[in-house]
This record gives sequence, structure tokens and C-alpha cells, in this order.
Amino acid sequence: MKKQVINILKNNTLGIDEIVTLLKAEGEERAVLFRESAKIKNDYSGNKVYYRGLIEFSNICDKNCYYCGIRRNNKEIERYNLTDKEILDAALYAYNNDYGSIVLQSGELSNSHFTSRITNLLKEIKKLSGGKLGITISLGEQTGNVYREWFEAGAHRYLLRIEASNPVLYAKLHPDNDLHNYYRRLECLGLLQKIGYQTGTGVMIGLPFQTYEDLAADLLFMKDFDIDMVGMGPYIEHANTPLIRYKNELLPIKARFDLSLKMIAVLRILMKDINIAASTALQAIDPMGREKAIKIGANVIMPNITPGIYRDNYNLYENKPCTDDSADDCKGCLEARLSMVDAEPAYGEWGDAKHYFKRTKKD
Ligand code: 5AD
Ligand code: SF4
Ligand code: FES
Repeated sequence: MKKQVINILKNNTLGIDEIVTLLKAEGEERAVLFRESAKIKNDYSGNKVYYRGLIEFSNICDKNCYYCGIRRNNKEIERYNLTDKEILDAALYAYNNDYGSIVLQSGELSNSHFTSRITNLLKEIKKLSGGKLGITISLGEQTGNVYREWFEAGAHRYLLRIEASNPVLYAKLHPDNDLHNYYRRLECLGLLQKIGYQTGTGVMIGLPFQTYEDLAADLLFMKDFDIDMVGMGPYIEHANTPLIRYKNELLPIKARFDLSLKMIAVLRILMKDINIAASTALQAIDPMGREKAIKIGANVIMPNITPGIYRDNYNLYENKPCTDDSADDCKGCLEARLSMVDAEPAYGEWGDAKHYFKRTKKD
């Protein structure tokens, strides 16, 4: 049995069947997989971990994704929207603490008040950091013009998860209307790349109806799409969402966690020079979840720098960690955690994915 994984890893062409075997690896085979992915990660990015200070500035969302705790129809949560000053203060915190980059994330809105507010904030953040703070945005599907305006205002990376690369599975996770269209999302990913963003995507792992073949195809999708950055993590059910009715059909939570680690390991083997984030959802399941991901292949972590009073309300899923903590708590805590897996923060660096420069030179 052990030979099977070794042989697959020796062979350079990983197809669906080979990846499924890797994702199902247990015991010594699993250890072989993780050793290989850890070695690649260390060869390419050493023990440095890039920080992205995460500002979840609003949980107001126009969409109704069936899995998400902040979907529009969830009336059980209090909605919030940070003021510009609060957002700029959080960005300044990241800058003063040498985080190198921030991520601005919120629910998805596309009205012009929202889009021009973002343009203005991007310019202000560039100004307050003398152009030094890197800015990733994660603000959903927008028109090409809006993506271009934000790029010109100073954002240089964009995260837009495909959530599930299989259109049939995607359709089961979203309402059937224009606001939730798989092909529109694909089009957006293409636009982002064309405009010049370092482009990130990702999926949820352990969703209802999802097969091992779907997950293998997700990884090949990322490779075929020449993606620069990936954030993916376990699906965690939320009581106030439609998907909760399938809670008894899911893989046990620990198995979803382990499968997420294997997805990261296989992706690192498939795409050696991209940035892979250790998602916060991993930590919701295992207190050392993100650090375990760093050990076997991830090289980016997103410390939460949202002002503490709002954190409780950005509940995409249950058990979200750090909701009672402040930005300073997370800073000290993370350094200690990373040292436990022999990793250290790369303070002051943007930490762009090498893959991006190769991809854009090639074009
Ligand atoms: N479990 C895990 N991840 C989730 N997300 C949304 N809801 C959940 C959930 N229940 C993820 C989606 C989205 C990102 C912002 O959060 O992948 O893109
Ligand atoms: Fe809104 Fe994103 Fe949640 Fe969908 S996943 S409901 S777009 S915040
Ligand atoms: Fe947030 Fe530990 S990382 S408190």
C-alpha cells in the first residue's frame, strides 16, 4: 500500500485518480504525503509565513449562499458596517506592526455607493502607508470597470473563491438566480487576471454532496486556471442556513479537517510557487489547525485585525476563533503558535506569490 503513494508522488502527472488516492491516504501513506509537501514548501519559501491583516469590515450581504451564516435571509444576526475611520485605524495598526499587507473583506454588495467608498478607502490606505502596505480585497463579483477602478486605486490582489469548481455542485449550494451564477463567477476570475491582479480562489472541503473526485477536480481547476493564491478550508455547518438540513450526511468534523490538510498538501505538490493560506476555519475545528497547515504546505496566515466589538458578528460558520480577542492578542498569540511549528512571521514583506511573476512574464 505504502508504495502506491510513493509511486504517485514520483510520477509527475497527477490526474483525478492519483489525487483521489492521495486524498484518501492514511497512516504511513499520509505521513509520506505530508513529508513531501512540507519539503516542497520549505524548499520554496523556507520557514517564513506572510501575514495579511484581515479586516472584516461589514457583514451586510446581498447574497444568499446556502452555506453562509451572514447570508441576506439570516435575520438572527446583527448587521454592522465599520466606519471609514475604524477601517483606516485597523489598516494603520497593520502598517505600524509591520504586517506588510492587509485583506479587506465584507459581504457582497455592488451598489455605486459601496464601490466608490472602497475606491476612496483604497486610496486612503495607500496614502497613510506611503504606498507601503499591500492590499488584497475580497469583495465578490463586480463588473470589469469596478475591478479596474479598484486596481488603479491600489488593490493588487483579489480573492474570489469558486467554492466548488463543479457547476452541478455549485448549483446545489446557491439559489438559482442571476446573483448566484457559476459561469459569472468564472468570468470574474478571468477578468481579475486580465486586469493584472494577483488572483486567488478557493473551495470549501467536506460540503454536502461533494465527492473525492470533486475535490481532486477542484485542485486541477486551480492549476489549469493558473491561480496565484489559494485559501481553502473545511465547510462548517451553520444552524441558520438552509444546508443545515444535511448535517447528518457530512463527514465527521475531524475528517473534514484532515481532508483539508491533505488538500493543502496535494495543492502544494501541484503548485509549488503559489501562496496558500492557512484558513481560519481550520482553527475553528482544531486549536492548532492553522499551524498544522503551515507545517505541511501553507505559507500565509491572516491574523484578524477587525476591531474586537464587531468580530462576533462576522460568523460565516460556527465556532469562529479569536472573536473575543483584539488585534494585539492575535499578534502575540500567533508568534508563539508559529514558533511551535518552527515557523516565523515575515514582518514587513508584501509576500507576493512567485507564481504571479512567472505567469505574467509568460503572457
Ligand atoms: N463554512 C466554511 N466556510 C464558509 N464560508 C462561508 N460559509 C462557510 C461555512 N459555513 C467561506 C466561503 C466564502 C468565505 C468568505 O467564507 O468559502 O468564500
Ligand atoms: Fe455573502 Fe459571501 Fe456569505 Fe455568500 S459566502 S452569503 S456572498 S458573505
Ligand atoms: Fe487570535 Fe490567537 S490568533 S487570539
